[in-house]
Amino acid sequence: MTATLIRNIGELTTNVTADSDPCGTLRDAAVLIDGGRIAWVGPDADAEAAVAAHREPTHSDRADAQRGAVEPERDGSRFSGLEVVDAGGRAVIPGFVDSHTHTVFGGDRADEFEARMTGTPYAAGGIRRTVAATRAATDDELRARLAGFAAELRAQGTTTFEVKTGYGLDVETEERLARLAAEVTTEVTFLGAHVVPAEFADDRDAYVDLVCGRMLDACAPHSRWVDVFCERGAFTPDESRRVLEAGIARGLLPRVHGNQLGPGEGVRLAVSTGAASVDHCTYLDDADIAALAASDTVATLLPGVEFSTRQPYPDARRMLDAGVTVALASDCNPGSSFTSSMPLMTALAVREMGMTTAEAVWAATAGGARALRLDDVGAIAPGMRADLVLLDAPTRVHLAYRPGVPLVSRVWKDGLAAA
Ligand code: NIG
Ligand code: FE
Repeated sequence: MTATLIRNIGELTTNVTADSDPCGTLRDAAVLIDGGRIAWVGPDADAEAAVAAHREPTHSDRADAQRGAVEPERDGSRFSGLEVVDAGGRAVIPGFVDSHTHTVFGGDRADEFEARMTGTPYAAGGIRRTVAATRAATDDELRARLAGFAAELRAQGTTTFEVKTGYGLDVETEERLARLAAEVTTEVTFLGAHVVPAEFADDRDAYVDLVCGRMLDACAPHSRWVDVFCERGAFTPDESRRVLEAGIARGLLPRVHGNQLGPGEGVRLAVSTGAASVDHCTYLDDADIAALAASDTVATLLPGVEFSTRQPYPDARRMLDAGVTVALASDCNPGSSFTSSMPLMTALAVREMGMTTAEAVWAATAGGARALRLDDVGAIAPGMRADLVLLDAPTRVHLAYRPGVPLVSRVWKDGLAAA
């Protein structure tokens, strides 16, 4: 396999924490990628020595060695291939880890967005419109749409993303969504408990039974996670707990949508079930923040939602100051946040939520990895997956300083050029 050496990196965000810098920043750095993993990280001045130390013998080298030939000079030719990339003093960050998307669905709701911009408030019930369009779509239509979102995510520097079901809400369609999502990511979340579909409006209990029974049975083989929308207009705390406990009993890991549209039990439910993450966290009280700070549950903030629904932004500063682990994600979905841009989430976090750029970039990379309980992405260090983004900018600050500008110059996923 061809190794890649990225040289002359002006600012490298490693996320290997050093002192007060959450980003573990190195200047004038280089990174060696080999076999899809990070092989070495260090000062650019040491790059040649690092390459020499990591070279693999080629077939002809091994043949020479078998014949007892003198070991040849250790130069670049001993690699099966070494691509050298000159970063030109620009910044490199870990690939974004988007721990919350709803990117397998049919139709769109542009009309709803337009109405919202002239004053109609966002409501969870809009989900049912996407359910109708999703049920009507074929597997191939949904697959093509999802492939489009996956390409869109990669082009913007996202190298790991989660995908939720939740726009099928019947056994057959939820199974299709989980299966199709599993074609593009390992991070598939069963969200049968997104809202109660229209046909169960008069019998909520029967729907929760279905979610916890046959629907879970059909989706669990394709899923790693179980999620529930614990919110007024969606599922009550008791219903939500039943769903999470059923998922856990089937070997899925819990995560929660909570405290999006108003105060509620979402955070307490997430912490008490050991959820990896509680997402939205727009309306939190002091007890919620204390419970999060004392737990392993990440608060995943989704500022695309507040931007697109004109809700107040979550108070990230308050959470960070209390010691809560914060992640950023896009929540890409056709209702509340139809954007897949992690650079935009970073800019909004800085501009609207009181985060420093370092905190925001950490939250959008290492924070997302924590929210997905993944320990091999979200940082640039030996042994980690070689998922990196070269920015067309001298520092990561430009992600917030130049909002809306396509600053993602190159993307590597598992060491291979992804965009
Ligand atoms: O995360 N909160 C629940 N689900 C999505 C919205 C889905 C929709 O409106 O279609 C969210 O914001
Ligand atoms: Fe969501």
